[in-house]
Amino acid sequence: MKRVDDFRLKLGKHELVPIMIGGMGVDISTAELALEAARLGGVGHISDAMVQTVSDRRFDTGFVSEKMKKYKYNAASSDKSAVQFSLSVLEEATRLHVGRTMEAKRGDGLIFINCMEKLTMNAPRETLRMRMRAALDAGIDGITLSAGLHLGSFALMEDHPRFRDAKLGIIVSSARALQLFLRKNARLGRLPDYIIVEGPLAGGHLGFGMDWAKYDLHAIVTEIYAYLATEGLDIPIIPAGGIFTGADAVSFLEQGAAAVQVATRFTVTRECGLPAKVKQEYFKAREQDIEVNTISPTGYPMRMLKGSPGIGSGIRPNCEAYGYLLDSKGSCAYIEAYNREVTAHPGVKKISVKDKTCLCTHMRNFDIWTCGHYAYRLKDTSQRLPDGSYELLTAETVFRDYQFSASGDRQTLAAPRATARRAGS
Ligand SMILES: Cc1cc2nc3c(=O)[nH]c(=O)nc-3n(C[C@H](O)[C@H](O)[C@H](O)COP(=O)(O)O)c2cc1C
Repeated sequence: MKRVDDFRLKLGKHELVPIMIGGMGVDISTAELALEAARLGGVGHISDAMVQTVSDRRFDTGFVSEKMKKYKYNAASSDKSAVQFSLSVLEEATRLHVGRTMEAKRGDGLIFINCMEKLTMNAPRETLRMRMRAALDAGIDGITLSAGLHLGSFALMEDHPRFRDAKLGIIVSSARALQLFLRKNARLGRLPDYIIVEGPLAGGHLGFGMDWAKYDLHAIVTEIYAYLATEGLDIPIIPAGGIFTGADAVSFLEQGAAAVQVATRFTVTRECGLPAKVKQEYFKAREQDIEVNTISPTGYPMRMLKGSPGIGSGIRPNCEAYGYLLDSKGSCAYIEAYNREVTAHPGVKKISVKDKTCLCTHMRNFDIWTCGHYAYRLKDTSQRLPDGSYELLTAETVFRDYQFSASGDRQTLAAPRATARRAGS
């Protein structure tokens, strides 16, 4: 029976274990997690979401408080158009986050950065341009474009010296989105080095509507192979979303996939950035505790635990400190929803906003517990300790479980220490 380790991901001169750990913002896929993937010969992602606050946490910089100080005067205003990001600070924070991560890299694997287009930051073009170029300057191995169609993103890096040598890929959820991207970028003479095909069971934002359950990852992947074949293109395809076991991964690799991208299994590892208490919530989740809702101001449906503290919270928008989802006019769907509720409830101190959430603040504080559809199976991958909590796993154990478990194997119990034990042993 085949195992993931029987396959290799070829990206240029690199031969990799075909396991990619997906980007999980804000700093849920930490540098430590990505570095483990690289050390083990696969691909890890860091994320550049809210990189200033990540830098403040990691390196004790003061980027967020400086921005807050500058725009404090605007905090009570519902018009956020004045709140702008400093491009030089954005550059510095990105260089720090990426540079320090790359300096620490060991092993034959690669480290990519996840770049979401929906992080519009009150100046979509300029900020995205800076984010990608600063990451390239700081030596990132590759950039994964996500959460958006990214029709103009390659062009923003076109004249960068690393545009042709860094690995550049895109996440799509349909052949149509891929077709648009390839057509728009045809003039650049540079294809993506890989295409991540993310299905409806993934964590984070979904590239589907609320009818996501109608779609099937295998079917979308098949459609994309067919499209690439008609175009005469050979680009590595990397399915993602709901690939929970090594056997699931092998089913895609046997179908011709170059690798798989996985994330949810790693949310309960020690290296993951979620607080320990939140990891326990992920472990405890039952199927009925997980929902796809529309509270993200980005307009994309998002999957999360129903118990996420950020759901229904009516906090004042924090754009003076954060503001990562402000569009080019300085507006965000949460601000609109918040203002509507304030007007509807005059004099009420603590309002609730049900239809949208202040995603920046709540993701920054780990209060939106986004997860993949199969998060309810995480409890089967660990064991309970005498105090009733679940034992955290190491990223290495989960990685190796994907890599070496044979198809048909029972889900392995990933042991936290040096040797892996089987479930029940
Ligand atoms: C906690 C969490 C946060 C995520 N954040 C992001 C993100 O910031 N950007 C992104 O493109 N994908 C994000 N994703 C999606 C993953 O990168 C990945 O493609 C997907 O979850 C894979 O499916 P799986 O979780 O079922 O393995 C996130 C997933 C999880 C579980």
